[in-house]
Amino acid sequence: MKYNFDEMIERRGTNCFKWDALLSMYGYDDLLPMWVADMDFCSPDFVMEAIRRRCDHPVLGYTMPSEGYWKAVTDWLGNRYNIVASKETLHFIPGIVAGISFALLALTQPNDKVLVTTPVYPPFLNLPRESGRTLVCSPLKIENGRFAIDFDDFERKAEDCKIFIMSNPHNPAGTVWGSDVLMRIADICNRHNVIVISDEIHADLTLPPHKHVSYSTVSTNACDNSITFMAPSKTFNIAGLGSSVCYVPNPDLRKRFFCWLDALGVAGGNIFAFTAAEAAFSNGDEWLKQMLDYLKENVFTLQAFLNARLPKVKVVLPEASYLAWLDFSDYGISHKELAEKLIKEARVALNDGTTFGGEAYECCFRINLGCPKSMLLDALNRIAGVLPTA
Ligand SMILES: Cc1ncc(COP(=O)(O)O)c(C=O)c1O
Repeated sequence: MKYNFDEMIERRGTNCFKWDALLSMYGYDDLLPMWVADMDFCSPDFVMEAIRRRCDHPVLGYTMPSEGYWKAVTDWLGNRYNIVASKETLHFIPGIVAGISFALLALTQPNDKVLVTTPVYPPFLNLPRESGRTLVCSPLKIENGRFAIDFDDFERKAEDCKIFIMSNPHNPAGTVWGSDVLMRIADICNRHNVIVISDEIHADLTLPPHKHVSYSTVSTNACDNSITFMAPSKTFNIAGLGSSVCYVPNPDLRKRFFCWLDALGVAGGNIFAFTAAEAAFSNGDEWLKQMLDYLKENVFTLQAFLNARLPKVKVVLPEASYLAWLDFSDYGISHKELAEKLIKEARVALNDGTTFGGEAYECCFRINLGCPKSMLLDALNRIAGVLPTA
């Protein structure tokens, strides 16, 4: 079956955060939303069908993960990432942001230091701060048009941190970390007793020929000292269902973390989260392949458009997922003026770079390419229309 990713779906009026929260977030409700990290594509037919089938039964009482769900999850992790997980090493969680938050509460004390690399997905900055931990940031460098870790800075800062929260692949720009980088992180974190939280929510969206390497698989150190989060939510555009999973191979760490999760009562999950995840992981290969081909085309479209019409914009193109990092600093326009131009004149909603790590990123914006090509071109034309050509 050939899936149609060109179709524009009307999402307004469905309590959809990306389209229906524009007024509260940006002050206008008629912007083209290129911000929240979900896709404007239909969730797969086989997921919708599984949910519909479950709704044919008239009782929606308490539920639990089925053997079919665990098989679908373990097969997916094993076949794609060589993660040899049994269901004992896994735990359902309603969402990864919540999962990271639970991990901070379970494994650190107030004021303990938590390391992140910036720019990064904003909750990585907010969760440590809001849970009374001390946030430590190691800025990434840009090398050959992609993000790279400054290992001297990283090691200096890791020395007295308790946890490193890593986005693997990296949000905001879909950088895929190779095994050499991950092994170096494992070596440093192991020497300084830093637990690594590897958030791999974007892993399935790695764009060929890039390959995702799951952190826990690179070395014994990495395996013993890590918590890995995975989810079908980005992959199959089902983020609204709250269906994620964490993998902790080390039994001691697992006990400390899973006890907390059980105490919080999140293991019960919800009927649609389990139903959708099982259907997605069991039937999703072909849909995902076609969707990744489409995303790759959108990345080429972005690149070609920038070369032709916006050559002053520097870009970090995604190697995974649908998020690209745009740097407008060569225009010499202030952050306020730039934001106003994009919102008030172009009427496009992008994610403001400052939310990914502060003032250093005030000329940067993240754009979401997970949409029909026509919508992407509309957004790019709007942006090009309000920026000086010379
Ligand atoms: C790196 C990363 N982690 C976690 C999330 C959100 O995960 P969840 O919806 O499961 O809390 C996102 C969403 O954009 C993300 O980019």
